[in-house]
Amino acid sequence: MKITARILVYALIAAVLITILEVFINYFQTQAINVSFILLSFFVTFVGIFLLLYIFYYYTVSKTLNKLSERLENRFLSNAIPQELNVLDDNDSLDKLEQNIRKLEIEREKEMEQFKNLDSYRKEYLGNVSHEMKTPIFNIQGYLDTLLDGGINDPEINTVYLRKADKSIERLIHIIDDLETITQLETGGLQLDKDKFDIAALCKDIYGQLELSASKRNIKLSLDKKYDKPIWVLADKFRIRQVLSNLVTNSIKYGKENGETLIGLQYYANDVIIEISDNGLGIEERHLPRLFERFYRIDKGRSREQGGTGLGLAIVKHILEAHDKTIEVQSKLNKGTRFTFSLDSAL
Ligand SMILES: Nc1ncnc2c1ncn2[C@@H]1O[C@H](COP(=O)(O)OP(=O)(O)OP(=O)(O)O)[C@@H](O)[C@H]1O
Ligand SMILES: [Mg+2]
Repeated sequence: MKITARILVYALIAAVLITILEVFINYFQTQAINVSFILLSFFVTFVGIFLLLYIFYYYTVSKTLNKLSERLENRFLSNAIPQELNVLDDNDSLDKLEQNIRKLEIEREKEMEQFKNLDSYRKEYLGNVSHEMKTPIFNIQGYLDTLLDGGINDPEINTVYLRKADKSIERLIHIIDDLETITQLETGGLQLDKDKFDIAALCKDIYGQLELSASKRNIKLSLDKKYDKPIWVLADKFRIRQVLSNLVTNSIKYGKENGETLIGLQYYANDVIIEISDNGLGIEERHLPRLFERFYRIDKGRSREQGGTGLGLAIVKHILEAHDKTIEVQSKLNKGTRFTFSLDSAL
């Protein structure tokens, strides 16, 4: 009930009670009942009490309530008003305060939920990081222990073990680099350095760099056209190199021996569409929604064996999001995988 209606009811009850009292007193004094006096007295009492309550409420209680509401709004509530509450269009200060307290309740509940999610994410993240780091660290310890136990003098194993320890250190550095990139990207600390560059040339350059690892599995790295002319995009070249490297490396790691990786580039509206496909292992559909999560790997054994941490695609997604772009994946088990994303063209 609105406050004015409430005051009306209180004034009515008070006026009735006072009038009855007056009638009694008057009756004992005069032994008569004067109807017009009763009506007039009732009316005056009612109006008087109503005005008193109304003025008291609006000039004291209401002002304090409004101030409280304002403080709640300014200090604790975000500007986003929940839809279902926004429909309440009542200027009454009591209602407004109640409405704000409900908003506060909803926001705090949401915050608590976020804190809980963050906490479980933090635990999972730390668990994953330490798990990933343990393997190379234990390996290094193992190699060094053997060398210290006399292996250093054995020409059959000393260089081999040192090389293996070196490989494990390389792997640790790779994990730390990836974690650093991900932290930078997630905390928004990454500043893009956008420039106009030829993405076809960048693809050829990356192919050149990865040729050796592709040849080990006899995988052909090809472009769908020759790209004699440049394909201009506006993006952060260093970061896009990371994206393409990750995707092409994946196509080699999870591709079939004697298979092929194919890159296609094409202008579309104001964008350039980039497609990277392989005819490798493919990915089961149920894994696709989680593929871009940190540390998500389908076949952990195989990925780790290939030196993978499961951070590559999470980094790819973050970099593209920083460019206001998204990445899509299509895949069929044992047929192959295709990643598609776009960049702003710079024609
Ligand atoms: N082209 C692909 N074909 C088949 N599976 C793929 C392909 N690309 C990625 N995957 C699967 O997705 C998982 C996540 O890939 P992601 O690049 O994030 O991690 P990774 O390659 O295991 O490690 P990292 O990239 O951090 O070295 C991989 O472990 C692999 O199982
Ligand atoms: Mg990868």
